Amino acid sequence: MCFSAVFVFLGILFCALCRCLECPFGCECFAVIRTVKCVSKDLLTAPENIPGYARTVIITGNNIHQIGPSSFTEPENITNIILSNNRLTEMASHTFSSLVNLRFLDLSGNQLALIHPEALSIPGSPLQELNLSQSLYNFTALTDLTTALRWGGLAGLLRLDLSGNKLALLPPGMFSHLPNLQQLFLTNNSLVAVYSGTFSGMNHLEVLDLTHNTFSTFRTDALLELDKLGDIRILLGNNPYTCSCEINEFVAWLNKSRAKVDVDAVRCASPGTLTDARLRGLSIQDIGCVVPVLAEVADLTLQTSYVFLGLVLGLVGMVFLFVLYLNRKGMKKWINEMRDACRDVLEGYHYRYEIDSDPRLGHISADSRRAQRQSGISLSQQLPSDTSVAPTKTQVRQLTISPPVNL
Ligand SMILES: *[C@@H]1O[C@H](CO)[C@@H](O)[C@H](O)[C@H]1NC(C)=O
Ligand SMILES: *[C@@H]1O[C@H](CO)[C@@H](O)[C@H](O)[C@H]1NC(C)=O
Ligand SMILES: *[C@@H]1O[C@H](CO)[C@@H](O)[C@H](O)[C@H]1NC(C)=O
Ligand SMILES: *[C@@H]1O[C@H](CO)[C@@H](O)[C@H](O)[C@H]1NC(C)=O
Ligand SMILES: *[C@@H]1O[C@H](CO)[C@@H](O)[C@H](O)[C@H]1NC(C)=O
Repeated sequence: MCFSAVFVFLGILFCALCRCLECPFGCECFAVIRTVKCVSKDLLTAPENIPGYARTVIITGNNIHQIGPSSFTEPENITNIILSNNRLTEMASHTFSSLVNLRFLDLSGNQLALIHPEALSIPGSPLQELNLSQSLYNFTALTDLTTALRWGGLAGLLRLDLSGNKLALLPPGMFSHLPNLQQLFLTNNSLVAVYSGTFSGMNHLEVLDLTHNTFSTFRTDALLELDKLGDIRILLGNNPYTCSCEINEFVAWLNKSRAKVDVDAVRCASPGTLTDARLRGLSIQDIGCVVPVLAEVADLTLQTSYVFLGLVLGLVGMVFLFVLYLNRKGMKKWINEMRDACRDVLEGYHYRYEIDSDPRLGHISADSRRAQRQSGISLSQQLPSDTSVAPTKTQVRQLTISPPVNL
């Protein structure tokens, strides 16, 4: 009797312990770190009876097509749910409604085709981070999501990742019901344009990531829309920018924008001559815009000044030649005098050399010298005929001076 009572007691205790340590099929439970993991177990439905202590639930790499309100019932302590890569296609209404403390929801790597308008509604708007990277099946899913964001009351959402969804177009005002959003990731999509109203209603945005899309430029309305976001961090790199004249306004915006832009990654994809050139700092001439009137005027004044310089130089040259012409007689005289002086000096040396070498040949050399001089006259034909015969003053002077030098 006593023994059976003890057994019953132990049995109850064991069962209670069992319930407490219970872990859903296909999952691993870590009570100490309050985490439940159900990784790559080919589960077809979300696990039931997740332990009450769990804060973080990781269900990835399974085959769960549909989740709904019955998927997560009891645990109100869950703050993080990771549901990535589960081939999810459908998210029913109020799926997470019971998770009033849910802050982090990762739905990345799924193929959501059907998102109920109230799929993300949770009383008290606890959600802070939502990862929908590579999880939208097609454009219909995006419109569904837009509705779900509007109806979900996600006033507390701070971070939203919509990267890798092949998005080509963002519905206007898509984020207008996320007033406290701080970080928006739209990288690795196919966006071609930002329109007026695309980012309306976001007054606390700090980071906007538009890298790895298909923007070829940003037009006036897009730039105004980006300006409205203030001096936030805007990532625009790795887009196929076409650096033709139409990109002029975007370059000017990059030149002066208050926003912190990743300007080093904002580069031309075409044309060939500008491939990989940084957009910021490009001039309107670089991108082949028609040279504005002002620059043309500047060019014209430059040309005019060259012509003027040429004229002045020509005039100076002409005046110089004219002066030379007026002084032609004086010049002639001067040239003759110079030539005579030069010749006399040379002859003086010649004479002295002959006298030094052999005094007896003095008169012969004088004769030959006269002959030489006469032949020189016939060549130049400029000296008066009498100078050739009679020795000039300088010659006489040299003849008289040279003997004392030789003494
Ligand atoms: C949630 O956590 C609190 C405190 O850790 C605990 O007292 C409570 O029992 C937990 N809820 C459930 C359903 O286990
Ligand atoms: C969202 O999930 C993807 C894939 O798991 C990851 O690469 C990315 O960093 C996540 N986004 C954020 C903002 O953490
Ligand atoms: C998106 O996929 C769903 C489900 O396959 C389909 O009903 C819908 O027509 C598709 N939408 C578009 C725009 O292709
Ligand atoms: C970009 O998104 C596509 C799907 O749209 C994906 O296959 C690819 O891995 C993503 N690339 C990066 C770098 O995340
Ligand atoms: C951008 O700035 C550079 C100088 O940093 C200037 O030469 C260029 O003309 C500017 N481009 C435009 C389009 O304003």
